[in-house]
Amino acid sequence: MYTSRISGLGHYVPEHIVTNDDLSKIMDTSDTWIQERTGIKERRHIKEGDGNTTAIMGAKAARIALERANVSKNDIELIIFATLSPDMYFPGGGVQIQDILDMDTVPALDVRNQCSGFIYALSVADQYIKTGMYQNVLVIGSENHSGGLDMTTRGRSVSVIFGDGAGAAVVSRSTKEGQGILSTHLHSEGAHAEELVLMGPSMKNWVPAIIEENPTDNIPYFPYMNGKLVFKNAVTRFAEVINEGLQANKLSSSDIDMLIPHQANLRISQFIQNKFQLSDNQVFNNIQKYGNTTAASIPIALTEAWEQDKIKEGDLVVLAAFGSGFTWASAVMRW
Ligand code: UT7
Repeated sequence: MYTSRISGLGHYVPEHIVTNDDLSKIMDTSDTWIQERTGIKERRHIKEGDGNTTAIMGAKAARIALERANVSKNDIELIIFATLSPDMYFPGGGVQIQDILDMDTVPALDVRNQCSGFIYALSVADQYIKTGMYQNVLVIGSENHSGGLDMTTRGRSVSVIFGDGAGAAVVSRSTKEGQGILSTHLHSEGAHAEELVLMGPSMKNWVPAIIEENPTDNIPYFPYMNGKLVFKNAVTRFAEVINEGLQANKLSSSDIDMLIPHQANLRISQFIQNKFQLSDNQVFNNIQKYGNTTAASIPIALTEAWEQDKIKEGDLVVLAAFGSGFTWASAVMRW
């Protein structure tokens, strides 16, 4: 029986910082509103001419993860790429990353699970490694939100929240007993698919049709979020799926050394921290600097926590996410 572990982590964010005050110059919002409701102080946006795209940022994060894992790109047997903001409608960005990194003709699998995308992707990697099929899998989450947000007052309830960036992990076969990914837990509830959604362009809603058919105050080629419903579901599902992971491994919340919640809203993370009675040292947040980077948020946070020496060998690390779909997920790991 094989197990898998994260052997290397990397992240990349564009250099261009967009503060809350910058946003308040282009839409009716304020630093106070954004910080009070979300905890976000600034986020990164791709800037025209900086050369970044979803796939390019993903590849930059991946290079760092590979180097830290001491795994050659030639040893990667599968790429799994999670994003909701691909550079192209099809093919998925996994093949772009394979090409940018000049990798062999390994399979590139695309995962479409929004904020839960990284944990879904990690879970797939874990299964392939557990069966013995692969020894090294590259898992990447990358998002270019700024390319598709409504940066006017009309879109403010969504556009102030999201930021750009990428994170990556090399997942490798583990040789140490009890180390690595102990379990992953995935869920979805499609009844709420349209509560956090980008309706088009899609084959059903192509651009001319959606422009013609929709009033200007409800444009379906910008993301829509029913914020209050998402918030309510998020706090419930985060707690459920963390508990599910702990129970599956006969652990309790006091065993958690580091919880990395998907960075959706600092208030959600704080609610979960209080619910599980975790100290500030047991939870990592960086939404203040990056906003919500969807599929990239967990690998970016995990990388920063590791870089800051907040995760050490033997630690119990729990990842948890909730987002569009709705989808939610957790992963329990012994570092
Ligand atoms: O990663 C995926 C998961 N996503 C989440 O978990 C997000 C969950 N939801 C949330 O975090 C919160 O619902 C938000 C932060 C998005 C919004 O907070 P809220 O307390 O639910 O605010 P609201 O949407 O009910 O808006 C309250 C007021 C409204 O004005 P009125 O109707 O009270 O006059 C909005 O028009 O705030 C207004 N508003 C804004 N004001 C300034 C909405 N967006 C903004 C803004 N700046 N950016």
